[in-house]
Amino acid sequence: MKALILSGGKGTRLRPMTHTTAKQLIPVANKPILYFVLEQVRGAGITDIGIIISPETGEAIKETVGDGSRWRAAVTYILQDRPAGLAHAVKTARDFLGDEDFLMFLGDNLIQGGVAGLVNEFKSSQADALIQLKKVKDPRQFGVAVLDENNRVTRLVEKPKEPPSDLALVGIYLFRAAVHEAIDRIKPSWRDELEITDAIQELVSSGAKVQANVLQGWWLDTGKKDDILEANRVVLDEYAKLQIDGEVDEQSAVVGRVEIGAGSRVVNSIVRGPAVIGSNVRVVNSFIGPYTAVSDGSLLENVSLEHSVVLANCRLQNVGQRIEDSLIGCNSKVCCLPAGRQALRLFLGDDAEVVI
Ligand code: DAU
Repeated sequence: MKALILSGGKGTRLRPMTHTTAKQLIPVANKPILYFVLEQVRGAGITDIGIIISPETGEAIKETVGDGSRWRAAVTYILQDRPAGLAHAVKTARDFLGDEDFLMFLGDNLIQGGVAGLVNEFKSSQADALIQLKKVKDPRQFGVAVLDENNRVTRLVEKPKEPPSDLALVGIYLFRAAVHEAIDRIKPSWRDELEITDAIQELVSSGAKVQANVLQGWWLDTGKKDDILEANRVVLDEYAKLQIDGEVDEQSAVVGRVEIGAGSRVVNSIVRGPAVIGSNVRVVNSFIGPYTAVSDGSLLENVSLEHSVVLANCRLQNVGQRIEDSLIGCNSKVCCLPAGRQALRLFLGDDAEVVI
């Protein structure tokens, strides 16, 4: 069995971050989301992995992931010239996939417990496709499926205004080669994309057996800023451990599950877990609260920071108010004017957001 990970697309809902980074490379608990996906694919025993990339962010993905040897897997990059839909991505990967069964995994989705169980269920079944679903409160922003009493899919619809059920498509699918003919028969949707949801509906309509598995654990779709913060919270809650490879001085306190990378220094500060601080970070006279991830090379001095994600090489200094619920891109600087000045001086990238 092969795997196809989709890491193309434009990531418009994560601008300004995605002006310079692929959304699948934004870190959660200091690790790119795509690494979690690769670990889960590899955890299901799949070693032949294709990654769909876009012309805009493909090079960054290649540089970060490499040839796959870190996961003892072989990675093939497949360039999709434009984000014309999930089924279009499968079409683009036709030569790589051949006639083999495959696992398709959206590169910005994470689920609890991995996909080994799902892959085994598919291998031992007669189903032509198997899709992962999750009950959600508002299904209108997802693909939605209707099932019969045996978990067989009877109907699917992409982002319906009036959802026929509360079961959303999670972005993890298993297919046999018959899906390629179904994709050849569908037309672009109202958003001008070749939808994989329509291809699966086409399989259902032609009498193929499409089964579903309903996920009980958490599912994280990291499409927007608050989704990243929520993913960071859930992942830190589950995986953070106490590991101090850096230095913590005697005036500081590290409380709970906190990871501090090599070369980092914590001086006269409090770090309360679950939290993760990368390598070569300096934390001085500061408070780092729970559910915070600070990437490599940043400086935090006289700040109070909580429930936030700070990417590499940032400088956060002398900020009087607590910084919370924030996602701060690489090389950003946040600091206060000298005492007495009541003004804001901003130098923000396109699509930036400031809440005061
Ligand atoms: O997150 C789950 C949802 O993902 C499902 O419920 C929907 O049925 C499915 O259509 C998809 O909806 P989105 O509109 O959220 O998909 P998005 O455009 O965010 O793309 C998902 C991933 O696939 C993302 O990592 C980018 C990548 N992608 C997307 C497109 C449109 C590609 O690689 N190529 C593409 O052409």
